[in-house]
Amino acid sequence: MSHAAATPILEARDISIRFGGVEALKRVSLQLTQGEVLALAGDNGAGKSTLIKILSGVYHADAGELRFDGRPMQLRDPQDAREQGIETIYQDLALADNLDVGSNIFLGREPTRRKLGFRVIDRARMAQVAREVLERLDIVIAQRKLTGPVKMLSGGQRQAIAIGRAIYWNARVLIMDEPTAALGVPEQRKVMALIGSLKAQGVAVILISHNLHDIFAVSDRVIVLRRGEVAGERRIEQTNGDEIVRLMVGDGFANGAR
Ligand SMILES: Nc1ncnc2c1ncn2[C@@H]1O[C@H](COP(=O)(O)OP(=O)(O)OP(=O)(O)O)[C@@H](O)[C@H]1O
Ligand SMILES: [Mg+2]
Repeated sequence: MSHAAATPILEARDISIRFGGVEALKRVSLQLTQGEVLALAGDNGAGKSTLIKILSGVYHADAGELRFDGRPMQLRDPQDAREQGIETIYQDLALADNLDVGSNIFLGREPTRRKLGFRVIDRARMAQVAREVLERLDIVIAQRKLTGPVKMLSGGQRQAIAIGRAIYWNARVLIMDEPTAALGVPEQRKVMALIGSLKAQGVAVILISHNLHDIFAVSDRVIVLRRGEVAGERRIEQTNGDEIVRLMVGDGFANGAR
């Protein structure tokens, strides 16, 4: 498959942002094409979460440009990003804990129906969609828990609901920040398999992970951030775990020179 001709679906150009004295990102650029899985690697504090929060409208960059489908894109907030087809599963705020599964799938996009001439939220429809989405992902959640707050669910179930939300809304870009960090092994496998099937459907995925095994299992390309800068970018078949770790920590550390 040729990637050279394809217009990137999502592009970041020279993105910089600082928090007080911390330059969290310094002129970071990336490109993502349709059906591609791009891994974002880097040590703690490298700037991975900050970058995806900019790509999903949570933070606004101090400098740089975002483009979607070849056009400049300005994101007011996360809802704006979701409406454009960018769904994000955050490391720290994946779901609204106190809401049920259906509410989490719709989150700000609730379906309505007419009742006595008024528009009311269609809870039955939301519950129905929740069941369908979970079925499609082959996730089993007891009926009783479906209608309770999602904080009662396991990490894997919560992750699956966040992925289900992206699928239901036909995301064109799905961004996942450490989707498997809190999961057991079978659940990790399921999430990795889901990423594979999203890719097959043409969804572009950005995957943040500390797990090199996961990165090599599902990614086409990897970008390594170090202290807010791009330390390197490789096609997955042209690199290996040692090289990625070297890029993450810097040559000096890997050689024991410092
Ligand atoms: N809201 C914020 N206010 C102040 N500093 C922040 C904020 N968000 C991030 N930072 C700082 O920006 C830098 C990058 O943080 P970020 O969370 O993006 O790292 P990360 O690569 O996601 O790390 P991890 O692997 O631990 O999740 C860190 O120095 C962090 O302390
Ligand atoms: Mg992070």
